[in-house]
Amino acid sequence: MNHFEYRGGVLHAEEVPLDKIADEVGTPFYCYSTATLTRHYRVFAAALPKTALIAFSVKANGNLAVLKTLGNLGAGADVVSAGELKKALAAGIPAQRIVFSGVGKTKEEMRIALDAGIYQFNVEGEPELDALSEVAASLNAKAPVTLRVNPDVDAKTHAKINTGTAETKFGIPWSRAHAAYAHGAKLPGIEIVGVDVHIGSQITELAPFKAAFERVAGLIAELRSKGHRISRADLGGGLGVPYRLDNAPPPDPAAYGSVIAAATKHLDVQLILEPGRLIAANAGILVSRVIYVKPGESKVFLVLDAGMNDLIRPAMYDAHHDILPIREPQPNAPRQRYDVVGPVCETADLFARDRDLPEARGSDLMAIMTAGAYGSVMASAYNARPPAPEVLVHGQQWCVVRPRMTLEALFALDRVPGWLEH
Ligand code: LLP
Repeated sequence: MNHFEYRGGVLHAEEVPLDKIADEVGTPFYCYSTATLTRHYRVFAAALPKTALIAFSVKANGNLAVLKTLGNLGAGADVVSAGELKKALAAGIPAQRIVFSGVGKTKEEMRIALDAGIYQFNVEGEPELDALSEVAASLNAKAPVTLRVNPDVDAKTHAKINTGTAETKFGIPWSRAHAAYAHGAKLPGIEIVGVDVHIGSQITELAPFKAAFERVAGLIAELRSKGHRISRADLGGGLGVPYRLDNAPPPDPAAYGSVIAAATKHLDVQLILEPGRLIAANAGILVSRVIYVKPGESKVFLVLDAGMNDLIRPAMYDAHHDILPIREPQPNAPRQRYDVVGPVCETADLFARDRDLPEARGSDLMAIMTAGAYGSVMASAYNARPPAPEVLVHGQQWCVVRPRMTLEALFALDRVPGWLEH
């Protein structure tokens, strides 16, 4: 459920008409709904025990205003770089609610995270364990560690976001899990606190979660029998969202919570979850204006002023995003099949192929739905297009939470070497 609805013939974000924002901010822009972020966080939290740490995956949406909205509700943060860590801290999320994931943490990043006093490191391999121990020992500290294990479970999602099978780079191979724990327990800068798993993203069935969590529960029992103190189970993120309103929705957080409860009920561990998409995806849209309706040989192209540099998901994952006109169409309005494209000089700059939409005209406003996760964060300045600004709505209020970058700022950091100046 989200708070983007037609009212009086115009799509609104909560109580704000989106055409009004477009007039003031220009297009394209991202628009997030506080009420939707809040609702998703609360529904997710309600499906889990009160002691669980819900660490919002900052990679899904890193805007400080979004992070602060979630932090104020009690969310922690799952970060994968020093940059994300600093953003989470800047948004007021306490270090003791921050977990640090990722396969390539540098020693410098480890130092920054240890100095900040984060809750835990999710360590993905033996060399990383050695490096972390070295850094922590040099600071006379012990790093709280969960080892991310790779359960070799197929999450049945898009190949580019499937992370829990043996051939991906993620986690410690299942066959080496015990050896890695034994190694970690001997290192001076490491304090083993738990087990971590994350099998992928946009997962729309419960079976892969169930399989992975049961494997992890079994591993925890075995590790304890070998004397390891396992007090936390970080079960990652990955629960999918409905991108298409005409498809059956993915399992809801309550059903996911039941799978977790069943797998972990006898373990007496603190649960940590790292949802990203589930919280943010349907809380954001990308608003864009039609530049041209361009007839082709056999197709009609709707050329938008947003491009793959603003939202790369369709180009990268063949992702489907619903597209709605900001002006509500009459029920009997004529319809047309369009290829909805952006202005970027790439054939892949295509938001939707053969999409049946109400007939559109140049300068019409369109909303690309379910764009609040992995939208703005993945934007680039390709084709020297400044990434779209971001707006946060709260009831009748709205605020530009990241302004449009000026064209001058876009290349202000470029430097021309001396030998070209003469
Ligand atoms: N934890 C870890 C360790 C992760 O790698 C991820 C996502 C999450 C949590 C959050 O997963 P979520 O709840 O959002 O599914 N750019 C892709 C998605 C990449 C996901 C990467 N890892 C997309 O647009 O579909």
